[in-house]
Amino acid sequence: MKTLLGIDVGTSGTKTALFGLDGALIASHTDEYPMAQPQNGWAEQDPADWWRAAANGIRAVLAEADGAEVAGIGLSGQMHGLVMLGKDGGVLRPSIIWCDQRTEAETEDMDRLVGRQRIIEITANAPMTGFTAAKILWVKKHEPEIYEKCAHILLPKDYIRYKLTGEFATEVSDASGMQLMDVPKRGWSAEMTGKLGIDRALLAKMHESQDVTGVTSSLCARLTGLAAGIPVVGGAGDNPAAAVGTGVVAQGRAFTTIGSSAVVYAVSDEVRIDLKGRVHALCASVPGKWTVMSCTQGAGLSLQWLRNNVCTEETREGEAVGLDPYILMDRLAEAAPIGAGRLLFLPYLMGERSPHPDPDCRGVFFGLSGVHKRANLVRAVMEGVAFSQLECVEVFREMGVPANDMVITGGGAKSRLWRQMLADLYGCPVSVPASDGGAALGAAILAGAGAGVFGGIEEACGQLVGKGGTLAPDAGRGKAYAPYFELYKKLYLSLKDDFKALGGIA
Ligand code: XUL
Repeated sequence: MKTLLGIDVGTSGTKTALFGLDGALIASHTDEYPMAQPQNGWAEQDPADWWRAAANGIRAVLAEADGAEVAGIGLSGQMHGLVMLGKDGGVLRPSIIWCDQRTEAETEDMDRLVGRQRIIEITANAPMTGFTAAKILWVKKHEPEIYEKCAHILLPKDYIRYKLTGEFATEVSDASGMQLMDVPKRGWSAEMTGKLGIDRALLAKMHESQDVTGVTSSLCARLTGLAAGIPVVGGAGDNPAAAVGTGVVAQGRAFTTIGSSAVVYAVSDEVRIDLKGRVHALCASVPGKWTVMSCTQGAGLSLQWLRNNVCTEETREGEAVGLDPYILMDRLAEAAPIGAGRLLFLPYLMGERSPHPDPDCRGVFFGLSGVHKRANLVRAVMEGVAFSQLECVEVFREMGVPANDMVITGGGAKSRLWRQMLADLYGCPVSVPASDGGAALGAAILAGAGAGVFGGIEEACGQLVGKGGTLAPDAGRGKAYAPYFELYKKLYLSLKDDFKALGGIA
């Protein structure tokens, strides 16, 4: 039986999934790992955890699908994370990941060294604390001995590629989030690396997402049980991979994903830049296409924080009856009214990127009262994340980027309440994909396209990715949310300076 393997290196865990050539899921395995926060606003992970999780996942799915022949492997992963390797391929320091916000000073250095306008022209984005270039500059400034030893810079999923194939390679969709690329030209920018003083030789070889970047090595075969010689394609960042997995590959289509972060993603036939830096422009995982993408830093991360620190009762009860605590939290939220009983939440636990690029802002419960219970808190968190998506969709609409043909995906899409909230707020129908393969399915489709199993990405999506159920918006509920959303938008503006002041207290 011929199969395709998709590996998605997420923030809470790595999902490894084996699909048939018809896109049907054969076996799937997820291994979780922690995220360290050594300081307020910092976020790091150990690349060894990602590899352990991927290797476990590969062994597990191969064991479940005895005799499966893997025709191709696709990788997807959390974007922007900095992995630094020495000459011998060893990891030099923990990875500084996408939601880390320590690099405000380095984005100012970037402004000074290259010029803000020129950075936007080349990289299609204003200097971002979350993107990789600023993280590299931070290491160069604060840990020069590590930068000295560094021989290779990779993104998270590209580290897994290195472990599978021995190749140092990347691809355009994920590399767009490093801020070292000429995004319109889909290649590294000598001007960016030159002016920032980053050695070009440290960067990986650039490919399109469906290109074969190498084959599984005999060492990988020994460690994972995979055959040697299987083609590994470029793959994509988790969001551009989810685009393929949900069939969002042509202009006019969009999706919202709620995972650790939340993202609104639309495809465009040309580079569309928001000069105010509220949303990103990246190369899509389809050749000749780009994307407009927003990123809310603390989406699932906010709900996870609430689960770990407040909803301990639901966690215990879930463990006792074998139910995911998020299902119990969802039931609580359903029982609370729209507006969470006049309680608002700003999801800025890790600072924010869209539509307010601001490393200093932090989470807020606004309107907390003695009458509120856990149900109000859970509902407020879900609404706050949904309000943030609408704020981003408003930017898309202002830019004239269509965002009305909307698919919902990611772990948060499992909640009907959250999906309905988004439909009511967006004022347009939202659908779920027929299969919840998401980014791992997208990576597997890219692998199939690269290995010659499919004619091309769009053709494969047409055959393999169907629409599941659709939820219609309810105008009455939309109207009930409106005053809360208006207040939600005002709160960031009112608190902007206070966030900075809070961050400045020693
Ligand atoms: C996108 C982003 C996140 C990560 C983590 O810009 O930073 O969506 O990819 O999933």
